[in-house]
Amino acid sequence: MELKDLTLDEKLTLLTGKDCWHIDGLNGKLPEISMSDGPHGMRTMTKDWQTLPATAFPTLSAVGSTWNEELAREMGELIAEEAIERNVDILLAPGVNIKRTPLCGRNFEYFSEDPCLAGELGKAYIEGVQAKGIGTSLKHFAANNREYDRLYQSSEVDERTLREIYFPAFERALQADPWTVMCSYNLVNGVYASEHKKLLNDILRGQFGFKGLIVSDWEAVVNRAKALKASLDLQMPDNAQSFTVLKEAYARGYITDEEIDASVSRILDLINKTQANKRKRVVTHTKEERHAAAVKIAAEGAVLLKNENGVLPFKSGERVYVGGKYAEQGVLGGGGSSYVTCEYKRKNLSDLIMEENPAVTAEYHQGYFCDEGARHGFYNVRKSIALAEQADKAVVVVGFDEHTDCEGTDRTTLKLSPIAVDFILKIARANPRTVVVVYGGSAVDMSDWIGEVSAVLYVNFNGEGGNEAIAKLLTGSENPSGKLQETFPLCLEDTPTQSERGDGYSDRYFERIFVGYRYYDNEGAEVLFPFGHGLSYSSFEYGNLNVQEKNGQYALSFTVKNTSAVDGKEIWQVYTGAKRSLVERPPRELKAFGKVFLKAGEQKTIAVTLTLRDFAYWSTAIDGWRTENGKYTVSVGGSSRDLPLRKEISICLPQDEQPSQRDQA
Ligand code: BGC
Repeated sequence: MELKDLTLDEKLTLLTGKDCWHIDGLNGKLPEISMSDGPHGMRTMTKDWQTLPATAFPTLSAVGSTWNEELAREMGELIAEEAIERNVDILLAPGVNIKRTPLCGRNFEYFSEDPCLAGELGKAYIEGVQAKGIGTSLKHFAANNREYDRLYQSSEVDERTLREIYFPAFERALQADPWTVMCSYNLVNGVYASEHKKLLNDILRGQFGFKGLIVSDWEAVVNRAKALKASLDLQMPDNAQSFTVLKEAYARGYITDEEIDASVSRILDLINKTQANKRKRVVTHTKEERHAAAVKIAAEGAVLLKNENGVLPFKSGERVYVGGKYAEQGVLGGGGSSYVTCEYKRKNLSDLIMEENPAVTAEYHQGYFCDEGARHGFYNVRKSIALAEQADKAVVVVGFDEHTDCEGTDRTTLKLSPIAVDFILKIARANPRTVVVVYGGSAVDMSDWIGEVSAVLYVNFNGEGGNEAIAKLLTGSENPSGKLQETFPLCLEDTPTQSERGDGYSDRYFERIFVGYRYYDNEGAEVLFPFGHGLSYSSFEYGNLNVQEKNGQYALSFTVKNTSAVDGKEIWQVYTGAKRSLVERPPRELKAFGKVFLKAGEQKTIAVTLTLRDFAYWSTAIDGWRTENGKYTVSVGGSSRDLPLRKEISICLPQDEQPSQRDQA
């Protein structure tokens, strides 16, 4: 089908969805393209709005904690297989928005507070889905960093901050050529993202080279004609007024044939791409294999934050008390459009602990519950205390859930419910070797209880295989290898945005580029756990950093050694920082990372190449990236605050390309 085969009315019809999940097929003239959420499982709905069960994978925040691009790719492929089975053409995922505040109700759907990590994982996820002939929708472009009043508030962000913090995750993910990009609900600097020509046309298409289709978030379009002028191709879902709005705008010359044809061509291209990719739609995994992958990702996405006196893993012969309602099934995901229901019959954590190591005895007694109305309470807590007293070790499972961490609303606190805290303290007093398993879509303030417990395992929201993964980690059949994809501050008041949430008109991004660890490091602030932190049952040693410059590229090599007797995986991180600059810069920024498997005693050499962009800032003076001449540090290690390797390098570009500086005699 070509443009010339369509009438004006047909073209205008195509520009808005047919219903909630389909592009209009013009009464059989074109194939109807179908879309479905994403991102951590297929959330297909029947005509009467029932969600069909699917494999519930860990949320993207858990994938963020794996720091493992291979797993992001694999998860994408497996979800795409379920899309194939459901006849869905485009998966509405992944979201790469930055976790600006831990209160954002949708943080569980996003990878990280850091654009390098979020962008690389987003890219791998897209590659995985599209390798199977299913399209993706990279979302939500741009600056959608809280849910509060998301349809009305303008994210007021300066240009440099957009370029350095909020755009780069999209730029990186775009390298995987997502078939579509979804615009966000909010306004950006006073203009709705859906009508933002500079954002959608000039930057996304013009500067970032995006060639695909721009789709609106569901109901994000306020005026269809203005959105078309901004180059938004497809409004979703269906809308009774849009056709008339477009027709009238055309009649008065506000929208032109060129603008209509440009968007319609992109819709036709998407249809053709969908057809051409059908041959790649091959299902090669069984339901059981997808579940096994969900367990594997959940295990790598759990972060061991604290482990005193080797309380973990459990040892054969030990008796363990397990308490807290979430030990029964865990938290599948956060609430909202991404919530996936599963068929898999989930088991109690205590039973799974004994399956992993039959020489460990685990006994469950709820003691503390949180019901569907998000009410918390005790259930015969005296019995829990007695069981914990008699046991060698105790496990308490607590956290946030789909009611507290949910699309369309933000959290108001980083603290667990007072009853959950009380439960932790009661059990910890009964048993000094208490392990707390914490669910959350974002950072948790642990100040009321962390000093009282021996170990903490933060599991994000980890899907249908969550309890199996936790059991493997607690018993040591899996070695923890996840790390934090966001800083855990001491308390909400320590975060740059505190409890600010805008005034109904605008939400000022006053902290500018100092988001996440960039802020805490700049302030020299103490945090509960830094970005990139995570323990393992192995220990690792870094060494032999070497940096060599060649034609504006910096070839790095260093070694990582497993110095323990246990095989394990280590996430290495490379940060750069300017020693001195004519503009304000964060002390260090993540520029490369990877995950390496090392057998006990094994050492491997890692090679990484950095480019000038990895040292640059966005200059509003030249409207571009600028790398200043001067000294920079390159630091390497296992977390943003544990960087044992450090080298200073000098960048010396031709003086003609640098701004002048007076001599400081
Ligand atoms: C969400 C999108 C989602 C869409 C369709 C919106 O509310 O913001 O992320 O893809 O609904 O369910």
